[in-house]
Amino acid sequence: MPPITPKPVIMSPITPKPVIAPPKIIAPAGAAMLPKPATTIKMSDPTFKTIREFIYQLTGIYFQDNKKYLLEGRLGKRLQLLNIPDFERYLQLLKSLNGRGEEMRFFYDAITINETFFFRNEPQFEAFEKTLVPQIAAMKKGQPRAKLRVWSSASSSGEEAYTISMLFLEKIKPLYPWLELEVVGTDISAGVLETARQGVYREYSVRNMPRHYLDKYFTIDDQRFYLKDQVKSQVRFDHMNLFDRSRMRTMSNFDIVFCCNVLIYFDQASKIQVVSDLYDSLNPGGFLFIGYAESLHGISTAFKLINFPKTVAYKKE
Ligand SMILES: C[S@@+](CC[C@H](N)C(=O)[O-])C[C@H]1O[C@@H](n2cnc3c(N)ncnc32)[C@H](O)[C@@H]1O
Repeated sequence: MPPITPKPVIMSPITPKPVIAPPKIIAPAGAAMLPKPATTIKMSDPTFKTIREFIYQLTGIYFQDNKKYLLEGRLGKRLQLLNIPDFERYLQLLKSLNGRGEEMRFFYDAITINETFFFRNEPQFEAFEKTLVPQIAAMKKGQPRAKLRVWSSASSSGEEAYTISMLFLEKIKPLYPWLELEVVGTDISAGVLETARQGVYREYSVRNMPRHYLDKYFTIDDQRFYLKDQVKSQVRFDHMNLFDRSRMRTMSNFDIVFCCNVLIYFDQASKIQVVSDLYDSLNPGGFLFIGYAESLHGISTAFKLINFPKTVAYKKE
């Protein structure tokens, strides 16, 4: 099969979403122009397995058999937009890109689940503010330009990273005025990172946030919630695949790492690799948080488990 070149993508200056030039439809003489039926492109089981393996090798994300519909639906939309008739040819296109290029960006956006919201796991943020940061601050006291470094390692659209930034301004800074904060948010999906950088949210994202934070750190206009610069300025976002070992090695000297609600998408071997790299990214005395439904049981024995009411943290001693 000849390699396929996608149709040109025209970026609109206002919305970051790509607009694909629609193909010209030429009706046969005398034919009435009927609306095109919404067709779904079918993914065969062998192709599903090949695409699953491709995704796994690239990202560590493993699609169980019962998640075929998800890939079929999400990637199918992309195929229709690009006018590619089947998944086999789409896979061929992806393979030809060697993990680079514009299409990879859409591919990652399509295969990831980006659910998140502000103050998602409150007991975790309480442990962060009341116990972990005071411990770390005690270690850093007296250092010139002391800085607390936090990594939101599957940040999605930024709600977790910005929750940390607001908590710092609200609760930490008044107690430790000499301490600065740097939060790095990373994700494999470039689409959600654009939203994160803009810092503009809808009701859904702020639904769990205490009213006081909403009033103090956002301006509200037309049902949109705009984060103030004060909160944004402590956070930066970068594109990063947690499964990319050479990139992971560049992430170091963090005091606290959040890796929440992403390990569930990995299989055991990917979890072991990613958690081992996260361990290396931490300073001695630093802490790792994972999602409420996640555990390091059978994944790592390197950390010391620290129990808090309704949550746990993992300490690098
Ligand atoms: C469900 S969201 C979790 C967001 C946030 N941490 C939270 O707990 O609310 C999972 C995020 O992990 C990202 N992700 C999945 N696989 C990844 C990988 N291999 N490297 C980096 N990010 C990944 C997805 O793009 C998605 O935004």
